Amino acid sequence: MLQRPRRNRKSEVIRQMVQETYVSAANLIFPLFIVDGENQKSEVSSMPGIYRYSVDNLLREVESCMNLGLKSFDLFPNIDESLKDKYATESYREESLYLRAIREVKKEFPEACVITDVAMDPYSSEGHDGIVENGEILNDATLDVLGKMALAHARAGADIIAPSDMMDGRVGYIRQVLDDHGYSGVSIMSYSAKYASAFYGPFRDALNSAPKFGDKKTYQMNPANQREALIEADLDEQEGADFLMVKPALPYLDVIKLLKDNTELPIAAYNVSGEYAMIKAAIQKGWLNEQRAITEVLTSIRRAGATAILTYHAKEVLLNKWL
Ligand code: PBG
Repeated sequence: MLQRPRRNRKSEVIRQMVQETYVSAANLIFPLFIVDGENQKSEVSSMPGIYRYSVDNLLREVESCMNLGLKSFDLFPNIDESLKDKYATESYREESLYLRAIREVKKEFPEACVITDVAMDPYSSEGHDGIVENGEILNDATLDVLGKMALAHARAGADIIAPSDMMDGRVGYIRQVLDDHGYSGVSIMSYSAKYASAFYGPFRDALNSAPKFGDKKTYQMNPANQREALIEADLDEQEGADFLMVKPALPYLDVIKLLKDNTELPIAAYNVSGEYAMIKAAIQKGWLNEQRAITEVLTSIRRAGATAILTYHAKEVLLNKWL
């Protein structure tokens, strides 16, 4: 045998020398859940180790992440049912929980990268990502709300706006609104290939944002489709996106790879709540080795072609020095 691939695996030094993929703090984005009130920190029951923070505790959490070198955060609000309405008006009210949180984080930690979620669902009385009329999700009317929300986020100091709603034309619409108001420097990370996935369940528990009727299949993508992701990615690129996102991550590594091969834009992947819950449940049962399972998942997402990973594991991998 002339070729013996095992020779390149014979020692730790050689294995590291030929290692192709790395995950570092710089690649990680930490999603954080926020809730109204003071001194609140409540664990999400389906996501052990993940909490909803009031703004004061959010600042403490951000500080401890910053000290670990974790500097990018994606914020998601848990909104009181009484503030929800058909047009998600709470999403752009000046004194709302979310806008206050963005302002406070940017004031205390100007060097942190704050990513904001643009979608109606946490604020919608129907729990959908668009305006509902006679049981239908309206596309073009929703763009107006998304534009107001994105502009409010930019004014509050968001570094990157991340539309997760899957309405057609929203990236171009938001880009235009931002540019028209002098925010041409604010980036857009588009959820380009966002699938109608079972793996968002724990997130909807965290935010109490599950749809009140039906499902999200008229706007989120069919898990059976790959080529359709190219249509979405092309449109988002033409409309001015700075990042393209694939979501969820682990069941869609082929889609990450496909987009990587078809665009020069950086790809982000969202290792979603259900992926986190699945790993944590197996670890709690003693069925998986925690460090090895988590680092393998993150490495695989990078290997498939993701530049950035949104993951609930972000803090623990740094805290435990697993990378
Ligand atoms: C909603 C939104 C969802 C997630 C991020 N933004 C859920 C959904 O579409 O219902 C899911 C994230 C996760 O599961 O971790 N716009």
